[in-house]
Amino acid sequence: METTTAIILAAGHGTRMVSTLQKVMHPVCGVPMVGYAVRAALEAGCADVVVVVGHGRGQVEEYLAEAFPGAAVRAAVQAVQRGTGDAASVGLEAVRETSGSVLILNGDVPLVTAVELRLVVSELSNAELSLATCVVEDPTGYGRILRKAGRVTEIREHRDLRGDGDQCVCEVNGGIYAVKFALLRQALAALVPQNAQGELYLTDIVGHATTVGARVEAVTLGADALAGVNDREQLNAVEQGMYERVARRWRLAGVTIRPGVRIDANVHLEPDVTLESGVVLRGHTRVARGATADVGCVLTDVDVREGAVVKPYCVATRSSIGPGAQVGPFSHLRKDSQIGENAHVGNFVETKKTRLGPGAKANHLAYLGDSVIGERTNIGAGTILCNYDGFQKHTTCIGPDVFVGSDSQVVAPVTIGAGAYIATGTTVTHDVPAGALAIGRVPQQNKDGYAEKLRARLKSAKDAGKT
Ligand code: UD1
Ligand code: CA
Repeated sequence: METTTAIILAAGHGTRMVSTLQKVMHPVCGVPMVGYAVRAALEAGCADVVVVVGHGRGQVEEYLAEAFPGAAVRAAVQAVQRGTGDAASVGLEAVRETSGSVLILNGDVPLVTAVELRLVVSELSNAELSLATCVVEDPTGYGRILRKAGRVTEIREHRDLRGDGDQCVCEVNGGIYAVKFALLRQALAALVPQNAQGELYLTDIVGHATTVGARVEAVTLGADALAGVNDREQLNAVEQGMYERVARRWRLAGVTIRPGVRIDANVHLEPDVTLESGVVLRGHTRVARGATADVGCVLTDVDVREGAVVKPYCVATRSSIGPGAQVGPFSHLRKDSQIGENAHVGNFVETKKTRLGPGAKANHLAYLGDSVIGERTNIGAGTILCNYDGFQKHTTCIGPDVFVGSDSQVVAPVTIGAGAYIATGTTVTHDVPAGALAIGRVPQQNKDGYAEKLRARLKSAKDAGKT
């Protein structure tokens, strides 16, 4: 049984999140919840995915356009949130293919995958409506599956439960349905808002199907895959599940992942990568074969190349770390830092918009902003590239094989030629030609025996109560 159309419900207020961020936009492992539903529908073979948006629709529409460009994913607007049944009607209006069947799923069930969706759809081969259910320990908040003689006859929402019988039902609705188009249209048209919330419930299509004698099949799935997110406690539970799923996948693909590592869904890893405890990999970070991120590193949109070592407690954002390079401990690579092959960046070094050439080294206590630094160049401890004059940023260009002595300041814009030598403690304010020595130090004077005299003077000043 094929279905090519999916409707994803994502227009609700999400009141229980207590948030200005649209509920389905809350990230789970770095990806907005609704993104998982859309991806699962696409992977299940749906060529037309209609996302029903409404409350906070700007945020959702912007994300969908960016994450799923092209014609396959579209938004339909539910102007007033009258319930999931009304949302499904809005989606159905926008559907292109009006024969066959439609897959409908809630946008707040991020752990569901194409596997579960296909199981629900394939059940339509002997039914006109199929839906995913699961058995849970605590059914609070979910719609209960009511059966007669073993067959599903109705879904009753938590708030509409009547007697003790209903209360005891632990089989719940997972919010995933596949329905023949004709039945869906007819059932949605028949919805009435006669319930505790005064809403049009999509779940009432099941009772309608039973009444008109259409066959309903339930697919019972694992509760983990169907966990919905209505509040932040559930968001946390689902995200933990997702982090475990992501880590398991990469472990089986040859990555060593110690406990307490968090890997976002869009991260890419290669075999023989090692991630020590407390590493957080965010966004589209990539770590290549044999590279290590040691304890406590936080990498966001970073490209770590083969065999590179990122030592403990580094923070890097939108940067690249070349093959065999070493960074850290305690380095801060801000956006647009490119650390070359086998280059070294050491402790308390901050880089920004800087290209450090292959084999170059900045091992201790430096600020390297807005610069291009050549191959094999050595940046001494305490070097500051002074890139900001209070109004504008300026660039420093340092050639290959340069030696910048410790505690130097380079006042940009300035160019230092290949092989030049900057003496320790120099303030470089104008260009240094290739091969030249730049030295700009206050000459040292030694005054013999003066230390003793100075101490005596300072002590008597203190004793006299003077400052
Ligand atoms: C819904 C089901 C419940 C099921 C549970 C599974 C109904 C009436 N109840 O309850 O049986 O057990 O999901 O997780 O369907 N939405 C709209 N427009 C609206 C209202 C909601 O688009 O007017 C969207 C929401 O953004 C959300 C989805 O529909 O993504 C489900 O709505 P929600 O309010 O979360 O329903 P639940 O109470 O969780
Ligand atoms: Ca929900």
